[in-house]
Amino acid sequence: MRVLLVGNGAREHAIGEAVVRSGGELYSFMSARNPGLAKISKEFAIGNIHNPEEVSKWAAGRNIDVAIPSPDAVLAAGVSDALVASGVPCAGPVKQAARIEWDKSFARNLMREAKIPGCPKFGIFENAKEAAKFIDELGEVAVKPAGLTGGKGVKVTGYQLKDASEAKKYAKEILESKMGGIPSVIIEEKLIGEEFTLQAFVDGKNVIGMPAVQDHKRAGIGDVGPNTGGMGSYSDSNHLLPFIARSDYEEGIKIMKKTVSALAKKGADYRGFLYGQFMAGKKGVKAVEFNSRLGDPEAMNVLAIFNGNFVEAVEGVANGKLSAKASAISFERKATVCKYLVPAGYPENPRKNEKIELDEKKIVGVGARLYYASVDERDGIIYTGSSRSAGVLGIADSIEEAEKIAEKAIGFAKGPLFHRKDIGTKQLIIKRIEHMKQLRRSGGS
Ligand code: AMP
Ligand code: GLY
Repeated sequence: MRVLLVGNGAREHAIGEAVVRSGGELYSFMSARNPGLAKISKEFAIGNIHNPEEVSKWAAGRNIDVAIPSPDAVLAAGVSDALVASGVPCAGPVKQAARIEWDKSFARNLMREAKIPGCPKFGIFENAKEAAKFIDELGEVAVKPAGLTGGKGVKVTGYQLKDASEAKKYAKEILESKMGGIPSVIIEEKLIGEEFTLQAFVDGKNVIGMPAVQDHKRAGIGDVGPNTGGMGSYSDSNHLLPFIARSDYEEGIKIMKKTVSALAKKGADYRGFLYGQFMAGKKGVKAVEFNSRLGDPEAMNVLAIFNGNFVEAVEGVANGKLSAKASAISFERKATVCKYLVPAGYPENPRKNEKIELDEKKIVGVGARLYYASVDERDGIIYTGSSRSAGVLGIADSIEEAEKIAEKAIGFAKGPLFHRKDIGTKQLIIKRIEHMKQLRRSGGS
């Protein structure tokens, strides 16, 4: 099977690896040379991944059986639409279906209209005064641009925003700058609890879930500082998380299933990976947002332990025949911890174009995996890009052991990089469990 992969981050490196492990022939279309993907691809090209014509033209001469257009901006640009139109089935939704991510107001309205459970109180505004009034009504809020901002546009009172007056100012700023390319702002009730990620294979109708993962959005140790694309993540050997019950997992999957059928009713045939970000709180599970793709870093956690046939699963997704391929989907019962090495100054002022060294042999030698992200390889030297540089993943029987492997591996990285030492540590996990216990003990709303 010839598989086209569009994108070149660590998530795509993990996808490419899963394709090759399942016997697929990998064709990668990248915006910069990801050294990991370059090594495992049968053929690759560097070009504009956001240009649907350019991508489908490259695919045309290569007899591609199935494509995985992966990053959010690629899906929002309509790369799947162009590929599907030229006869290449895609595991990556067409633009109309990917709207669940590129337009957060669409996602919230869909939840409200279809009465999908887990939707927080929200309002969508184009006028700063009206937004301010709603902020006063709710008190504690999350303020979000409707469009895509690489996961960095959301601010929440008590975290990045001091109080309601800062929330109002930020809402005004989003509207005035048309942040994310859509001139509206979403104001939501602030959800309190522990976040978890569910990713699933979706073929338009069927939804098959993967192990739950917890990402760490904040840049600093102890969950402080600005939001990032994700600093690292972990998953547990039982495919749940230490602070969520099976019923929380099932509730999340139910919300995702209802969302896929609500999209189908609107004529949006969702074929690809669906990512649900959830908050487990005292009132059960709420949907924080949906993404139209695998998560980054979360893709690394789940794909590294995928032990079915990924190419078959992807074919099932792209051709609307997932139920016939369900047996191709299985995951090892192992825990994983992923830590991102990011350039100094990330996310606000990342040091770009700096030379870094990642000793892959030694990293693999301690039992870890290395996934290249926003880097460029020129003349055999690796330089930082403007985003996260590389993900390092440990796999073991417990989260604690997997964390130790990831840390050991990070010892073999050199350059102006930093990472969150606390991700996956026993101390942090205990904090999460205690937080959940305390919330659920307190009951009420
Ligand atoms: P998003 O880009 O929507 O995933 O938002 C980024 C992060 O902002 C989430 O992972 C949450 O930590 C936080 N967030 C988003 N919406 C809310 C909300 N309604 N209440 C509390 N935190 C939120
Ligand atoms: N890890 C968050 C995301 O992929 O959006």
